[in-house]
Amino acid sequence: MSAPLAGRRVLVTAGPTFEDLDPVRFLGNRSSGKMGFAVAAAAADAGAEVVLIAGPVHLPTPAGVHRIDVRSAAQMHAAVFAALPADVYVGAAAVADFTPAQVAPSKIKKRGGETGLELQLVRTRDILADVAAHRPRPRVVMGFAAETDDVDSHARAKRAAKDVDLLAANRVGVPGSGFESDDNQLVVHDAAGSHALGPDSKTRLATTLVAMITARLASEAP
Ligand code: C5P
Repeated sequence: MSAPLAGRRVLVTAGPTFEDLDPVRFLGNRSSGKMGFAVAAAAADAGAEVVLIAGPVHLPTPAGVHRIDVRSAAQMHAAVFAALPADVYVGAAAVADFTPAQVAPSKIKKRGGETGLELQLVRTRDILADVAAHRPRPRVVMGFAAETDDVDSHARAKRAAKDVDLLAANRVGVPGSGFESDDNQLVVHDAAGSHALGPDSKTRLATTLVAMITARLASEAP
Protein backbone atom coordinates (compact mmCIF):
# COMPACT_ATOMS: atom_id res chain seq x y z
CA MET A 1 0.00 0.00 0.00
CA SER A 2 1.30 3.49 -0.77
CA ALA A 3 1.98 5.79 2.17
CA PRO A 4 1.75 9.38 0.90
CA LEU A 5 1.46 10.72 4.45
CA ALA A 6 4.44 8.78 5.86
CA GLY A 7 6.36 11.03 8.25
CA ARG A 8 3.41 13.42 8.68
CA ARG A 9 1.67 14.02 11.99
CA VAL A 10 -2.10 14.45 11.69
CA LEU A 11 -4.28 15.67 14.55
CA VAL A 12 -8.03 14.99 14.32
CA THR A 13 -10.87 15.93 16.68
CA ALA A 14 -14.15 14.04 16.55
CA GLY A 15 -17.48 13.64 18.28
CA PRO A 16 -19.48 15.95 20.52
CA THR A 17 -18.43 17.68 23.71
CA PHE A 18 -20.42 17.35 26.90
CA GLU A 19 -20.65 20.44 29.10
CA ASP A 20 -21.56 19.50 32.64
CA LEU A 21 -24.35 21.33 34.47
CA ASP A 22 -24.16 19.29 37.65
CA PRO A 23 -22.90 15.80 38.58
CA VAL A 24 -25.66 14.08 36.55
CA ARG A 25 -26.61 16.47 33.72
CA PHE A 26 -24.85 17.97 30.76
CA LEU A 27 -25.39 19.90 27.53
CA GLY A 28 -24.39 17.82 24.50
CA ASN A 29 -25.16 17.44 20.82
CA ARG A 30 -25.98 14.73 18.29
CA SER A 31 -22.52 14.27 16.77
CA SER A 32 -21.70 10.54 16.46
CA GLY A 33 -18.00 11.05 15.73
CA LYS A 34 -18.23 8.88 12.59
CA MET A 35 -16.86 11.50 10.15
CA GLY A 36 -13.82 12.35 12.28
CA PHE A 37 -13.07 8.70 13.06
CA ALA A 38 -13.25 7.95 9.31
CA VAL A 39 -10.79 10.78 8.58
CA ALA A 40 -8.43 9.48 11.29
CA ALA A 41 -8.62 5.95 9.81
CA ALA A 42 -8.00 7.23 6.27
CA ALA A 43 -5.00 9.29 7.40
CA ALA A 44 -3.53 6.26 9.20
CA ASP A 45 -4.10 4.15 6.07
CA ALA A 46 -2.15 6.81 4.15
CA GLY A 47 0.80 6.27 6.49
CA ALA A 48 0.42 9.26 8.84
CA GLU A 49 1.06 9.27 12.56
CA VAL A 50 -2.48 10.05 13.75
CA VAL A 51 -3.63 11.47 17.08
CA LEU A 52 -7.42 11.36 17.46
CA ILE A 53 -8.93 13.49 20.21
CA ALA A 54 -12.42 12.16 20.78
CA GLY A 55 -15.37 13.50 22.70
CA PRO A 56 -17.83 11.00 24.27
CA VAL A 57 -18.66 8.55 21.45
CA HIS A 58 -19.36 4.84 21.04
CA LEU A 59 -16.87 3.97 18.34
CA PRO A 60 -13.87 1.64 18.19
CA THR A 61 -10.44 3.20 17.77
CA PRO A 62 -9.24 2.86 14.15
CA ALA A 63 -6.15 0.67 13.63
CA GLY A 64 -2.86 2.46 14.07
CA VAL A 65 -4.43 5.58 15.62
CA HIS A 66 -3.46 7.05 19.00
CA ARG A 67 -6.72 8.05 20.71
CA ILE A 68 -7.17 10.52 23.56
CA ASP A 69 -10.65 10.69 25.12
CA VAL A 70 -11.99 13.99 26.47
CA ARG A 71 -15.37 15.23 27.63
CA SER A 72 -15.69 19.02 27.51
CA ALA A 73 -14.70 21.74 25.05
CA ALA A 74 -12.11 23.01 27.54
CA GLN A 75 -10.58 19.52 27.85
CA MET A 76 -10.55 19.16 24.06
CA HIS A 77 -8.80 22.52 23.68
CA ALA A 78 -6.14 21.52 26.22
CA ALA A 79 -5.62 18.07 24.63
CA VAL A 80 -5.26 19.58 21.14
CA PHE A 81 -2.67 22.12 22.27
CA ALA A 82 -0.78 19.43 24.21
CA ALA A 83 -0.66 17.33 21.00
CA LEU A 84 0.64 20.12 18.74
CA PRO A 85 2.73 20.65 16.65
CA ALA A 86 1.26 18.75 13.73
CA ASP A 87 1.48 18.92 9.94
CA VAL A 88 -2.29 18.65 9.57
CA TYR A 89 -5.20 19.56 11.84
CA VAL A 90 -8.70 18.34 11.09
CA GLY A 91 -11.37 19.74 13.41
CA ALA A 92 -14.30 17.41 12.87
CA ALA A 93 -15.62 17.61 16.43
CA ALA A 94 -18.92 19.34 17.14
CA VAL A 95 -17.49 21.51 19.90
CA ALA A 96 -19.96 23.28 22.17
CA ASP A 97 -20.05 27.02 21.53
CA PHE A 98 -21.36 27.70 25.04
CA THR A 99 -20.75 26.06 28.40
CA PRO A 100 -22.41 26.59 31.81
CA ALA A 101 -20.87 29.52 33.69
CA GLN A 102 -20.68 27.27 36.76
CA VAL A 103 -20.94 23.54 37.32
CA ALA A 104 -23.26 22.96 40.29
CA PRO A 105 -21.42 20.83 42.88
CA SER A 106 -24.57 18.81 43.65
CA LYS A 107 -27.65 17.88 41.63
CA ILE A 108 -29.81 20.88 40.74
CA LYS A 109 -33.18 20.26 42.45
CA LYS A 110 -36.60 21.50 41.58
CA ARG A 111 -38.10 23.18 44.60
CA GLY A 112 -41.75 23.12 43.56
CA GLY A 113 -43.72 26.16 42.51
CA GLU A 114 -41.12 27.54 40.10
CA THR A 115 -42.06 27.87 36.41
CA GLY A 116 -38.59 27.61 34.94
CA LEU A 117 -34.87 27.63 35.46
CA GLU A 118 -32.40 30.03 33.94
CA LEU A 119 -29.00 28.74 32.94
CA GLN A 120 -26.12 31.12 32.46
CA LEU A 121 -23.81 30.05 29.65
CA VAL A 122 -20.47 31.49 28.58
CA ARG A 123 -18.62 31.15 25.28
CA THR A 124 -16.07 28.38 24.86
CA ARG A 125 -12.75 29.01 23.13
CA ASP A 126 -12.73 28.23 19.41
CA ILE A 127 -10.22 25.40 19.04
CA LEU A 128 -10.12 25.54 15.24
CA ALA A 129 -9.50 29.29 15.08
CA ASP A 130 -6.91 29.05 17.86
CA VAL A 131 -5.04 26.25 16.01
CA ALA A 132 -5.07 28.27 12.77
CA ALA A 133 -3.65 31.30 14.64
CA HIS A 134 -1.02 29.25 16.50
CA ARG A 135 2.63 29.32 15.43
CA PRO A 136 4.03 27.03 14.17
CA ARG A 137 0.77 26.58 12.29
CA PRO A 138 -0.12 23.17 10.88
CA ARG A 139 0.49 23.31 7.12
CA VAL A 140 -3.09 22.25 6.43
CA VAL A 141 -5.96 23.21 8.73
CA MET A 142 -9.37 21.76 7.93
CA GLY A 143 -12.69 22.47 9.62
CA PHE A 144 -16.23 21.23 9.28
CA ALA A 145 -19.45 23.19 9.41
CA ALA A 146 -22.83 21.66 10.01
CA GLU A 147 -25.56 24.07 9.01
CA THR A 148 -29.31 23.87 8.75
CA ASP A 149 -29.66 26.71 6.21
CA ASP A 150 -27.60 28.96 3.90
CA VAL A 151 -24.94 26.25 4.02
CA ASP A 152 -22.63 27.68 1.35
CA SER A 153 -22.59 31.30 2.44
CA HIS A 154 -22.08 30.37 6.10
CA ALA A 155 -19.30 27.97 5.10
CA ARG A 156 -17.46 30.54 2.98
CA ALA A 157 -17.69 33.13 5.74
CA LYS A 158 -16.54 30.63 8.37
CA ARG A 159 -13.54 29.50 6.31
CA ALA A 160 -12.29 33.04 5.96
CA ALA A 161 -13.11 34.10 9.54
CA LYS A 162 -11.27 31.15 11.10
CA ASP A 163 -8.40 31.25 8.56
CA VAL A 164 -8.71 27.57 7.66
CA ASP A 165 -7.44 26.09 4.39
CA LEU A 166 -10.30 23.68 3.80
CA LEU A 167 -13.81 23.84 5.20
CA ALA A 168 -16.19 20.94 4.63
CA ALA A 169 -19.80 22.01 4.95
CA ASN A 170 -22.76 19.73 5.31
CA ARG A 171 -26.44 20.28 5.77
CA VAL A 172 -27.89 18.80 8.95
CA GLY A 173 -31.46 17.77 9.48
CA VAL A 174 -31.82 16.04 6.10
CA PRO A 175 -31.86 12.24 5.68
CA GLY A 176 -28.62 10.61 4.45
CA SER A 177 -26.23 13.24 5.73
CA GLY A 178 -24.94 14.81 8.89
CA PHE A 179 -24.60 13.84 12.49
CA GLU A 180 -25.90 10.31 13.05
CA SER A 181 -25.74 8.96 9.51
CA ASP A 182 -23.20 6.56 7.96
CA ASP A 183 -23.36 8.68 4.82
CA ASN A 184 -22.70 12.30 4.15
CA GLN A 185 -22.75 14.94 1.45
CA LEU A 186 -20.14 17.69 1.64
CA VAL A 187 -19.12 20.87 -0.10
CA VAL A 188 -15.44 21.52 0.51
CA HIS A 189 -14.46 25.19 0.31
CA ASP A 190 -10.93 26.46 -0.19
CA ALA A 191 -9.61 29.90 -1.12
CA ALA A 192 -10.11 29.16 -4.83
CA GLY A 193 -13.64 27.77 -4.80
CA SER A 194 -15.65 24.75 -3.80
CA HIS A 195 -15.97 21.04 -4.61
CA ALA A 196 -19.11 18.98 -4.01
CA LEU A 197 -18.50 15.47 -2.65
CA GLY A 198 -21.07 12.69 -2.30
CA PRO A 199 -23.56 11.61 -1.27
CA ASP A 200 -21.30 8.75 -0.24
CA SER A 201 -20.26 6.75 2.81
CA LYS A 202 -18.29 8.69 5.42
CA THR A 203 -15.47 6.16 4.88
CA ARG A 204 -15.15 6.93 1.16
CA LEU A 205 -15.59 10.67 1.73
CA ALA A 206 -12.81 10.56 4.33
CA THR A 207 -10.46 8.92 1.80
CA THR A 208 -11.19 11.75 -0.64
CA LEU A 209 -10.65 14.42 2.04
CA VAL A 210 -7.31 12.86 2.98
CA ALA A 211 -6.32 12.84 -0.72
CA MET A 212 -7.17 16.59 -0.89
CA ILE A 213 -5.06 17.22 2.22
CA THR A 214 -2.19 15.16 0.77
CA ALA A 215 -2.32 17.15 -2.49
CA ARG A 216 -2.13 20.45 -0.57
CA LEU A 217 0.86 19.23 1.44
CA ALA A 218 2.61 18.10 -1.75
CA SER A 219 1.95 21.37 -3.54
CA GLU A 220 3.32 23.65 -0.83
CA ALA A 221 6.95 24.48 -0.29
CA PRO A 222 8.43 22.91 2.87
O1 C5P B 1 -18.61 28.02 14.04
P1 C5P B 1 -18.91 26.55 14.03
O2 C5P B 1 -19.02 25.98 15.42
O3 C5P B 1 -20.04 26.12 13.16
O4 C5P B 1 -17.59 25.93 13.36
C1 C5P B 1 -17.44 24.55 13.20
C2 C5P B 1 -15.98 24.23 13.13
O5 C5P B 1 -15.26 24.90 14.18
C3 C5P B 1 -15.70 22.76 13.33
O6 C5P B 1 -14.54 22.41 12.59
C4 C5P B 1 -15.45 22.67 14.84
O7 C5P B 1 -14.63 21.56 15.16
C5 C5P B 1 -14.76 23.99 15.11
N1 C5P B 1 -14.99 24.54 16.47
C6 C5P B 1 -13.96 24.54 17.40
N2 C5P B 1 -14.14 25.07 18.65
C7 C5P B 1 -15.32 25.63 18.99
C8 C5P B 1 -16.39 25.66 18.06
C9 C5P B 1 -16.20 25.10 16.81
O8 C5P B 1 -12.87 24.02 17.08
N3 C5P B 1 -15.46 26.13 20.21
